[in-house]
Amino acid sequence: MKIDILTLFPEVIQAYLNESIIKRAIQNNLVTIKVHNIRDYSLDSHKKVDDYGFGGGQGMVLMPQPIFDAVDALRTKNSKVLLMTPQGKPYHQKMAKALTKEQHLIIICGHYEGFDERIRTLADEEISIGDYVLTGGELASLVITDSIVRLLDGVIKEESHEYDSFTENLLDYPVYTRPVNFRGMEVPEVLLSGHHKNIETWRKQEQLKRTKERRPDLLEKS
Ligand SMILES: C[S@@+](CC[C@H](N)C(=O)[O-])C[C@H]1O[C@@H](n2cnc3c(N)ncnc32)[C@H](O)[C@@H]1O
Repeated sequence: MKIDILTLFPEVIQAYLNESIIKRAIQNNLVTIKVHNIRDYSLDSHKKVDDYGFGGGQGMVLMPQPIFDAVDALRTKNSKVLLMTPQGKPYHQKMAKALTKEQHLIIICGHYEGFDERIRTLADEEISIGDYVLTGGELASLVITDSIVRLLDGVIKEESHEYDSFTENLLDYPVYTRPVNFRGMEVPEVLLSGHHKNIETWRKQEQLKRTKERRPDLLEKS
């Protein structure tokens, strides 16, 4: 898979990509991620990318030209263009899973007051990462990228995300590590038993219990 991210703040994104599981996935050629500065595509002599909005109002608006030119330069017949916006479809794990099937993603990050409305015509999908407003789309693009990359074949072991929260409309089961007793809080005995069948049953029960307590809406969906 290839992911191109269009942003006005490439360093913010690059810093995250240079760490941990994503860094390893890139090094192992499981994904190619390129971060592009929208400003590089501006035809303005001062590399201007935004302007005041028509009709007045606060904040600067991203101009269409640099973003259209960037998408034109990067898009192929196998590309899917994702626009980060709080007005988009609320993002969830099943969307992440579906996006792993794509060959090429182009992710557009807005900033300031937002982007010129005509930029929406470039998008195959508009995505929101939640009902709140961020300063820019950089964090949203990283949320999307991270959630997809960890699901790609070979990035982490299949078993590691098999029971992840939301995979089967269930939250994940509780996990423990050493010590067995910490400040009087004990690790459940079943996990120390070495009895794989019992551990599996316990985990399933805990998943159901947790989901019922914390996210009953997920159970209604399943
Ligand atoms: C300050 S926001 C603009 C919000 C816009 N005025 C509105 O209310 O719809 C600037 C940019 O941040 C990104 N952004 C902000 N919140 C987001 C969210 N919840 N999900 C995805 N992107 C978001 C978008 O790219 C947006 O264009």
